Amino acid sequence: MNIDRCLCYKRLFADLSEKMNRRGLSLEQVMQETSVGSGCGLCVPYLYEMRRTGQVAFDRIISEDEVVQCTSSCDGCDK
Ligand code: FES
Repeated sequence: MNIDRCLCYKRLFADLSEKMNRRGLSLEQVMQETSVGSGCGLCVPYLYEMRRTGQVAFDRIISEDEVVQCTSSCDGCDK
């Protein structure tokens, strides 16, 4: 199993990550610009994990429950 893209919008996580890094965009900005995550939503946990870890391919199912999302009280990173 290799999960490496948003299937609805045919966008590789690697390309999205590069877009974030190269242009200094937040994940939310990239999501808005590309529409990733706005279809079925199955890629959203992977997008959050990509932002958290930098990983762009996954070999397992990630549920929304296990994804650590940034909160307003988080001061552990700038993502
Ligand atoms: S896989 Fe990304 S919105 Fe459906």
